[in-house]
Amino acid sequence: MSNNTLILGLQWGDEGKGKIVDALSENVFAVCRFQGGHNAGHTIKVDGVQTVLHLIPSGVLHRSVKCLIGNGVVLSLEAIKKEIKGLEEFGVEIKNRLHISENCPLILPSHIKIDQVRDKDEFIGTTGRGIGPAYEDKVGRRAIRFGDLKDETLLRKKVSRLIKIHNKLLKHFYDSEPFSEDEILNNLLSYKDFAESFSINTTDLLMAWAEEGKEVLFEGAQGTFLDIDHGTYPYVTSSSTTIGGVSSGLGIGPKHINNVIGVVKAYATRVGEGPFTTELFDKDGDEIAKRGNEFGATTGRPRRCGWLDLVALKKAIFINSVDSLCITKADVLDTFENINVCIDYDGENPVYKSFEGWQEDTSLFSSYDELPQKLKDYIKFIEEFVNCKVSIISVGPSREQSIHL
Ligand code: IMP
Repeated sequence: MSNNTLILGLQWGDEGKGKIVDALSENVFAVCRFQGGHNAGHTIKVDGVQTVLHLIPSGVLHRSVKCLIGNGVVLSLEAIKKEIKGLEEFGVEIKNRLHISENCPLILPSHIKIDQVRDKDEFIGTTGRGIGPAYEDKVGRRAIRFGDLKDETLLRKKVSRLIKIHNKLLKHFYDSEPFSEDEILNNLLSYKDFAESFSINTTDLLMAWAEEGKEVLFEGAQGTFLDIDHGTYPYVTSSSTTIGGVSSGLGIGPKHINNVIGVVKAYATRVGEGPFTTELFDKDGDEIAKRGNEFGATTGRPRRCGWLDLVALKKAIFINSVDSLCITKADVLDTFENINVCIDYDGENPVYKSFEGWQEDTSLFSSYDELPQKLKDYIKFIEEFVNCKVSIISVGPSREQSIHL
């Protein structure tokens, strides 16, 4: 029987999953991404050095761990190469450790352009990385996939068809400059060797690993309420960020997901547009933003901040069959006199329960027993309200600032 863990976000992303994946991947065989693209930004701090990953699974800093990018991920060749280069310069070896699905749809420069010009009208506040348009082409059955780079004849045909469609859209609908088919083709052809080295049938690989009893970790990107189906549509990303995305995005049945850890901040943030019931527009919101350094890891945009919404959290736990919670950034609330959590809605407005703040520096604590009683009470209330136990409390960005319960 395998013992595979899924780690995913239960809010709008940026819950601090990267740090938790890094911590829990030390003893696993492989870490696998199943959705999203380089819109994600996973920050890991080891020995005072910060690494931000966008595409490569957050287990990469453990040198013996394999990294797998599944078919559910949309792949920017430029972004992945840049990330590999950065890691190699940092002394992290990638060759023979990273495997990328040959079925990953590619993000082309024209996807990025369409995303950026379109968002000026649609106001979703996307990351401008071409994610939405790339997924549209996947579902439209016209995407260029990573494995296509190995077959020049097929690639030529597919590029010609796709760029014609993109150019029509850019020229006639968005009043924008078209792309040169040749330029895009030549750029793609320059990645042929890269595809030869890294592209593989990742489902076959996972099947072999499962047969050998290898333990893997599935790493979610973004969060539950950015899910294309279950999120705050249309203010969502274009992938399945919830548990269902693991099976479709990797080609592995749900029986292979044996433990689900949902990551949630001790408060709430969101980047981009869309509903956010507990959003704060006062000094408490400013204080959270400042203490939590709430700026996007990918775009640098300031994040909107608010109180923890337990009604939404309960739903996220149900959607994802969460077994236990990891509460991150609890230390950000250390200075607050009062802390609110949303326990109901009155129309559009949140109904809060208020807690006295613990007003103590928790960032140096390493065991549950050391934590202030008021923080323990806050955690207990959350556990009882959402009917799910907390297994990890994170009190800072470093590896050692995690308390395992
Ligand atoms: P897209 O994924 O770039 O299409 O953006 C769609 C929405 O998802 C926007 O509101 C983005 O801010 C949000 N989003 C995408 N990726 C992330 C992430 O990694 N963290 C937080 N928000 C994200």
